[in-house]
Amino acid sequence: MSRSSPRPLGASIHKSLELFRAFLREQDDPHACYSLLARYSVDQVEEYGGSVAGRTVVDVGGGSGYFTEEFRRRGACAYLFEPDGRELGTKPPYGTVIADGYLLPLRDGAADVTFSSNVLEHVADPQTFLSELARVTRPGGLIYVSFTNWLSPWGGHEWSPWHYLGAERARARYRRRTGRPAKHTLGENLFAVHIGPTLRQVRARDDVTVVVARSRYWPFLAETIVRVPVLRELATWNLLLVLRRCHR
Ligand SMILES: C[S@@+](CC[C@H](N)C(=O)[O-])C[C@H]1O[C@@H](n2cnc3c(N)ncnc32)[C@H](O)[C@@H]1O
Repeated sequence: MSRSSPRPLGASIHKSLELFRAFLREQDDPHACYSLLARYSVDQVEEYGGSVAGRTVVDVGGGSGYFTEEFRRRGACAYLFEPDGRELGTKPPYGTVIADGYLLPLRDGAADVTFSSNVLEHVADPQTFLSELARVTRPGGLIYVSFTNWLSPWGGHEWSPWHYLGAERARARYRRRTGRPAKHTLGENLFAVHIGPTLRQVRARDDVTVVVARSRYWPFLAETIVRVPVLRELATWNLLLVLRRCHR
């Protein structure tokens, strides 16, 4: 698995803008938004890991399955593992398994690619979660993990950007404004994950090596931003870690 040539800058900017516009319309047209994100993300997997055709892919915490479906469209044997039946929607991909990412019902090294988009900030113990992703990935296989860090402008999820003024205040404001309780509660199903400590912890691990740590969405300077303390917490938006499972 080697890195294919990066996309030209103009094309990268176009892609990122397209994605940003789709995010702005996520509530009105979730299908368009998540289909596009899935194509964009699987492109990134292929950029760092080569074609997924014929490979076994495990999508952990994949929600309603947009990513699993996109992997399948490109010829992968992809499976969705999702713990929450409410996230699956009405037509989950066939073979979907209800399972927690901390304890996947898979043998060691079962997957060529383990994929987990925007789940890490929803688990209380990200490093144990990563250990399980590494366990099910074959030696030399790729692990794609992304998360929205707490100090990102989108860190508070539906109550962003008011989380900068405190989680409780932001949740209360959301309820006042929409008349609905917020989906996320800090410390229950959303956790304040930061980029600096996460990078240090991942680099100290002996089961994976870091192929790339970059902003998932920025079309340029995506790796540079992540190297600058403080700025990276505010400007990365979403950290993408591509890891390689060690041979040991
Ligand atoms: C923000 S959604 C992301 C869904 C999808 N991966 C995406 O990027 O659109 C967070 C997902 O993480 C899942 N999740 C939360 N805790 C989990 C765990 N312990 N193991 C696996 N998935 C988990 C949730 O059920 C939910 O589907």
